[in-house]
Amino acid sequence: MSAPVGAARATEVAADGPWAWAAAEWETFQAAYVPERATQLTVALDAVRDILGREPRSLLDLGTGTGSFARAARALFPGCTVTGLDVDPFLLELGRRAYPGDGVHRVVGDLRHPGWLDAVPRGGADAVDAVVTATTTHWLSLDVLARVYGEVWAVLPRGGVLVNVDTVPPGAADSAVGRHALARTLRRHPSAGSGAPTWPEFWRHVEAVPEFAPLLAARATALGPRQPRVFVREVEHAAALTAAGFRDVGTVWRSDASAVVVAVA
Ligand SMILES: C[S@@+](CC[C@H](N)C(=O)[O-])C[C@H]1O[C@@H](n2cnc3c(N)ncnc32)[C@H](O)[C@@H]1O
Repeated sequence: MSAPVGAARATEVAADGPWAWAAAEWETFQAAYVPERATQLTVALDAVRDILGREPRSLLDLGTGTGSFARAARALFPGCTVTGLDVDPFLLELGRRAYPGDGVHRVVGDLRHPGWLDAVPRGGADAVDAVVTATTTHWLSLDVLARVYGEVWAVLPRGGVLVNVDTVPPGAADSAVGRHALARTLRRHPSAGSGAPTWPEFWRHVEAVPEFAPLLAARATALGPRQPRVFVREVEHAAALTAAGFRDVGTVWRSDASAVVVAVA
């Protein structure tokens, strides 16, 4: 496995002021929820390079947030066009402001709505041959996820790679093993007063910054009412990926319910 150079670089903040503070807080908060985050990103990018047999030419990061995964990809694959897509205009702008010149092309898109690919440049040299996503698909219902898998498959060339890093409990929906693994993963999430910011605490902290108010309002409109998280099981991911057309699907890394799922088009 490559040293996690790219993932480590992804945490360096170039700006200062509230944007730099918020970007650093975001990284702390993400790492508190997913302690193996740097390892996961390294495993995922290793899978992309090994399976393609070369560096990707154009990589798309779905649910990019501030672009942590996308920046790690740029650091590891400097010749690659990297596009990060997210529904949240605040997080996209946070990434632009905190990491100017990182080479990541950021676009707004909502995976819940067909047509999200319209925002992604993918003609000619930008033809996407790798798609990655981290801690995002648990915001999508299984139906929407299955559609997104189909849309990703249709974009990728034969042999192109999709890597999904997320909470993917092992087994099927009724698996006791899966429930056990998920409970262990959720128990490790930070709680109020544990030192690391929780999800509501992070958003309360950024809401206290007047400069962020317009983009946070745009975020609320874009997201709409918050849906509950959906922890789609490994068997269901595999079935949805296979039904979408992927011909080779497997989990290459796991720690309890945290997993790196890879699919080859
Ligand atoms: C936990 S964050 C992870 C961000 C980034 N992948 C990372 O690892 O740092 C989940 C991301 O998914 C995005 N997201 C949630 N629902 C989405 C949707 N329907 N379309 C696009 N992005 C979405 C959120 O805005 C957020 O940036």
